[in-house]
Amino acid sequence: MLPDPDPDQPPDSSRHEPGTGPIPLSLLPDGARIEPDGQLSIAGVDVLDIAKEFGTPVFVYDEGHVRARCKEALAAWGPGVAYASKAFLCKEMARVVHEEGMSIDVSTGGELHVALAAGVPAARLVLHGNNKSTSELARALEVGVGRIVVDSFDEIHRIEQILGEAVDEAARTKILIRVTPGIEAHTHEYVMTGQDDSKFGFGLASGDAARAVRHLRRKGSPVELVGIHVHIGSQIFALESFEKAAAVIAEFFNPLGLQELCLGGGLGVAYVEDEEAPSITEWASVAKLGLSAAGIAPDVRITAEPGRAIVAAAAITCYTVGTIKDIPGIRTYVSVDGGMSDNPRPVLYGSGYEAFLPRDAGAPRPKRVTIVGKHCESGDVIVKAARVPADLAVGDVLATPVTGAYGHSMASTYNKVPRPPVVFAREGEARLVVRRETFDDLTALDL
Ligand code: LLP
Repeated sequence: MLPDPDPDQPPDSSRHEPGTGPIPLSLLPDGARIEPDGQLSIAGVDVLDIAKEFGTPVFVYDEGHVRARCKEALAAWGPGVAYASKAFLCKEMARVVHEEGMSIDVSTGGELHVALAAGVPAARLVLHGNNKSTSELARALEVGVGRIVVDSFDEIHRIEQILGEAVDEAARTKILIRVTPGIEAHTHEYVMTGQDDSKFGFGLASGDAARAVRHLRRKGSPVELVGIHVHIGSQIFALESFEKAAAVIAEFFNPLGLQELCLGGGLGVAYVEDEEAPSITEWASVAKLGLSAAGIAPDVRITAEPGRAIVAAAAITCYTVGTIKDIPGIRTYVSVDGGMSDNPRPVLYGSGYEAFLPRDAGAPRPKRVTIVGKHCESGDVIVKAARVPADLAVGDVLATPVTGAYGHSMASTYNKVPRPPVVFAREGEARLVVRRETFDDLTALDL
């Protein structure tokens, strides 16, 4: 028998049978606390109060956590480091990131629109995308985005058609060339982007990258080539992958005499107990050391575009348990009021998550269950092998941590389930920054 835990001490997984301890605090947002009554608060706001006020499912972000990661990214990488908004974007998020001094990477006309609607100056935006349309490019050029990262000869052709040849030298748009370095990072195949067989970028091995450089540097080009961009993939834990990319790209970059090098995003985060990810600071320092060892001059502006590392751990999703079905000898299904529409990552990538009860956040979790959503398919699983407190019951608010990146941004209305709201908690206050979709919203596009 294990002794009763001391209520004044933080929960300690090592006091429990392996795999049955409370949710590790390291997976929760910086501002998460277990209050004396056992309930979870985020940035001084009771999480159950948020669930009551805004309903479930709901994404709850710790704004201070987001701000702290932006500050860390800026300190580690320096000016020009951009937040990859595909991880999570709404107007308030864009404002927070901009206030903290980061640039913003937008990869579609839609992301560009949201960032501009939030009041972010165009000069602070970097436009990405492997198939930018003429209208997306025209809009970006019209508003004057800070950088365009070109991805194909077709795109270069479109830009040149829009601009024509008569361009004021000083006002030329700054361009980076996305290069595919031929590196296979250790991550899921769907989010690996640096290998030769990729829809992204100009291949190094094929000579396309060098051809793109020559083309953009020719006399009379209506744009100004300022640098090279490389992004090897996402959810990468092994910093050696970034070192490898640094070495390969440096060899291409050095003879060009360009002034900017962007190493993309991709730093992994811990989603489940026992996973450990490098910090943004460690990532930047290893990458920069790799670059300088590879001969990159100290005056080159080195940047990056973290998405997940900025927001993933900043948020939790709260659901309400609707049914519990025990199939003897097989498994217990716990159904919640969301599912693959608010978190498609388990279905898409087989990603693992943890679960816990905000009403008793320090409780041991001895019971094994499978947490599923309310969608009409068996693949609608949120946590396949979840550990939960033994007294989990219908009506409980159940939370999954580390849902701040690629959750809301990849949400759908599958089965006409309205997308959840987003709440930012800061200094004891919770404010709604994205409202819940309504049933009327679901028919708003129908004619
Ligand atoms: N830069 C570029 C050019 C990218 O394509 C991406 C992500 C990033 C930066 C940001 O990467 P991060 O730091 O967030 O790893 N939906 C997948 C992730 C897709 C990543 C797409 N590109 C997931 O949920 O795991």
